[in-house]
Amino acid sequence: MAAAEKLAHLPGDAPIQFFDLKAQQASIRGALETRWTTILDHGRYIGGPEVDECEQKLCEFTGAADAVVVGSGTQALVMPLIALGYGHGDAVFIPGFTYNATANAVLLAGATPVLVDIDPATFNMDAADLERKIQMVKGNRNLRARAIMPVDLYGLPADYAALESVADAHGLRIVADAAQAFGGRQGNQWIGTLAEISATSFYPTKTLGGYGDGGAIMVRDKEVGDLLRSIRWHGTGDNRKESIRVGINGRCDSIQCAVVSEKLGIFEEERQRRIQAASIYNERLTGKVDGQVVGANEESAYGLYTVRVPDRDGVRASLQEKGVPTAIYYDTPIHQMPAFEQFAPPGGLPECERASREVLSLPMHPYLSEDQIHRVCDALLATLQR
Ligand SMILES: Cc1ncc(COP(=O)(O)O)c(C=O)c1O
Repeated sequence: MAAAEKLAHLPGDAPIQFFDLKAQQASIRGALETRWTTILDHGRYIGGPEVDECEQKLCEFTGAADAVVVGSGTQALVMPLIALGYGHGDAVFIPGFTYNATANAVLLAGATPVLVDIDPATFNMDAADLERKIQMVKGNRNLRARAIMPVDLYGLPADYAALESVADAHGLRIVADAAQAFGGRQGNQWIGTLAEISATSFYPTKTLGGYGDGGAIMVRDKEVGDLLRSIRWHGTGDNRKESIRVGINGRCDSIQCAVVSEKLGIFEEERQRRIQAASIYNERLTGKVDGQVVGANEESAYGLYTVRVPDRDGVRASLQEKGVPTAIYYDTPIHQMPAFEQFAPPGGLPECERASREVLSLPMHPYLSEDQIHRVCDALLATLQR
């Protein structure tokens, strides 16, 4: 059955969930219970065969040369920075409109986050402002420009072609924060292969989520994968005892790997349903409500479907009254959070600031019915016309 037909067949009058992990669980529960039994029987709760299986499946889906599963999306960002040897005085360029983990990861690695404004159409890092921020760093004797950490916000891949040309011109590396974007693609390249190193998160509500914390690093170079496996186990070599470099406990346990492998089995079906849900939103809302612009040659993973609205608090309250749950990602840009204020660039980041005032995310998951999506749109359009 095509995705559109499936959406149409789901019960329409059910309460609308912002995310729906229960409906998803129902479709894989039996298989998961079999997997729990297998893990309880073999007893390798860390480093079981599920780890290799999951890594292999991630490579098969994305086309990455190697994938290394880790304990969280945050670890998946910190570990590549450790692998590349960044630390004191090394500048890593990140967008100023993202989850706080992006900034924390740079600081935990000992490097300095340099905040870049976003393109208002895509909410992703603006390559022109990146160039300005690189020039700013070049004028600072205490910093060396090293790497770019673009974020694929809401599931939409960043503008890798533009970012790569800036990176090449200045000798910078790219470590992608694809925490929200597993399943997105540009042309025929999947998230996980769009940068030399890409990090994703298995936080339960992500497009590919586990039942706990987890994440993965996907790489183009197998040697980097081996280095990350050493860093994942305190920088040890084969004996797992002697540290030959600095590392951390970055492991992902067997149970999370089993969940992620099982979810990869239904991932393409779910991805199609998200695309179908987004296309109904687009049909109803384009031209009436500003949203995230997805290019002709790319697909968002649709981790979130986000629009801009005036009087956001009023709109949210009205939608809530009509049974439509919404969420805000994010109401504070990075440079206005107390922990990161010291990294605020002169003049601020106007588009990050505007986005943080205007964004509103609508329900988005693979188990929304067509009717429910229309109810969301009816409620939103009625509220905006008041
Ligand atoms: C953009 C972004 N980066 C990093 C992370 C961190 O992932 P985790 O929560 O798995 O550590 C998240 C998760 O919410 C995220 O949305």
